Formats: sequence, C-alpha cells, structure tokens
Amino acid sequence: MSNQISILAPAKINLTLDVLGKRSDGYHELATVMHQVDLCDRIHIQRIEAGIVLDSDSREMPLDRENLAVQAAALLLERFRSGGGVHIFIEKKIPVGAGLAGGSTDAAAVLTALNQLLDLGCSLEELQLMGAELGSDIPFCLAGGTALCTGRGEIVQPLAPGPRLHFLLVKPPYSLSTARVYQNYRPERVFSRPRLEPFISAWQRCDMMEVARQMGNVLESVSIEMKPEIQAIKDQALALGAIAAIMSGSGPTVAALFPGAEEAREAAVRMGKQYCQCYAVCSLTGESLVERQS
Ligand code: C5P
Repeated sequence: MSNQISILAPAKINLTLDVLGKRSDGYHELATVMHQVDLCDRIHIQRIEAGIVLDSDSREMPLDRENLAVQAAALLLERFRSGGGVHIFIEKKIPVGAGLAGGSTDAAAVLTALNQLLDLGCSLEELQLMGAELGSDIPFCLAGGTALCTGRGEIVQPLAPGPRLHFLLVKPPYSLSTARVYQNYRPERVFSRPRLEPFISAWQRCDMMEVARQMGNVLESVSIEMKPEIQAIKDQALALGAIAAIMSGSGPTVAALFPGAEEAREAAVRMGKQYCQCYAVCSLTGESLVERQS
C-alpha cells in the first residue's frame, strides 16, 4: 500500500443560484448550478503513526478541527476505525472565505484521497453522504464538473460538459459569513431570479451568450446590501468587456465571464491594480485530479 498521495482540489463558482424557500431544519432550499474552474489547491497526504496533523502555506485558515479538511479526515478514519493517522499539507491557492468552496473542496479532496490511500473501497455516493454531514457543497466538490444542485445543495445532478468558459474572479479584501447572508435573505428584495430551464437548455446547446444571459444569483440581494462594492466590481468587469458578472455563492467573489482567455487575462491585469486577489480561470476539463501517487 502506498504511503502518500497528492491531489488537486478545484474551486467552484455558482453559475445560477436560486433560493426556493426556508426549510424546517434552518437551511434554505436551493436550485443552483455549480461549475468547477481550474483554480486549485494542492493537497498532499501522508500516513503517519497517529493523529491528524494539518499544515499549510496559508496563514488565513484554521489548522485545527475547525478546518473542514481535518473534519473530513477524522470522519473517515473514525468511521472505518482505520489504525494510524494522517499528515495533510494544503498548498492554498483558492482565496479563503470567498464563496468559491475553498474549504469544501479541500474536504472533498481529503475524502477522495484517503479512500484511495487507505483502500477503503467507498463509492462516490458513499463519500457524498459522508461529505454532506460536513457541508452542503462537499457532495458537488466530490462529483466535480458541472451539476444542478438542489436540496440544501447536497443533491447533485451532473450536467454534461457545456461551453468552455473563461472567467475573471475578483475577491475583495474581506469575507462574508455564509450563515449571515442566508439569515438576511428576503425573497421580496429579489427583483430578478435565474430561470433554470432556459439556463440548462442553453448549457446543453453550448450557447455561451445565452448561458451568460441566464446566469444569476439571488444572494446578491443580501451581499450587495452588506457590501455595495460587490456591485461596483461587477460594473467594472462589465465595463472591461465581460458578457456577464455575478457573485459566486454567498460571496463576496465576483465571477465575470469573458468571451475568451485573453480577454479574461487582460481584465485580470487591469483589475489587479485595485484588487490583489484577481484570477483569470477557465472551466476545469476532465483530466484526472490524482496527479501522483508514490
Ligand atoms: O452547509 P454549510 O455548512 O456550508 O452551510 C453554512 C451555513 O449556511 C449553514 O449553517 C446555514 O446557515 C447556511 N445555509 C443555508 N442553506 C443552505 C446552505 C447553507 O441556510 N442551503
């Protein structure tokens, strides 16, 4: 059995996000299309004698039990009564507290990698059930690609690959609490909701312009109220040639869709003068994420 594994953990953006109602368990019922992009953390996991040790090159995230990657490792090791422990190192590239599922994708990568490293034989569905215990976005991060996610986000229906999209991501220098954004959500303050059927139909036809028209996120009504700068970032990206610009998840990152890679890169350079966390990214293609096993 090998002793260590390295895996990439991609960020996601929400191409559409609609809140359908509040549930009795306190969560909100969602219909959202999530989409992985090629901005990735890199995770190295090594078997050690005992315990779960997390290290990172980032000082911005907790390294204790608060971190979803540690929770994921603990859940899997406890559930399978696996002897020994693991050392996890996260090379952090995805901004923290950004609405890009940085924590969830690290946890998903830990579940995938440990399943392989410890030869546990769990199916994707089994990993998704465990992931859903830790966070609503983790089942999608395990599946990857593009998917319609419903329930509290944990029910994942994969969509076939659509158009290859090029985005500029701009993360302003603060984070928003997901729980707080959802708490402050008021449907009566939403003036435009994404329409799922036209979106999915455009997606299936690989009609990028129509995909752009149908993108939308109702949580902008909360987050822009909290941080009006998010609207200013959207406007700036549109002025630089974006064909659509929406906030991802509960924010605050703005994902601006550009017609091509060059346009997204140029916009990243322009907006990078004002915002140090700007990234030109594109849709993640289906290559295997497990890079190296030794
Ligand atoms: O599932 P996760 O831990 O990522 O959610 C963080 C918080 O966001 C939840 O505690 C809840 O307050 C809010 N949330 C929600 N409805 C969802 C997803 C998250 O209200 N569908």
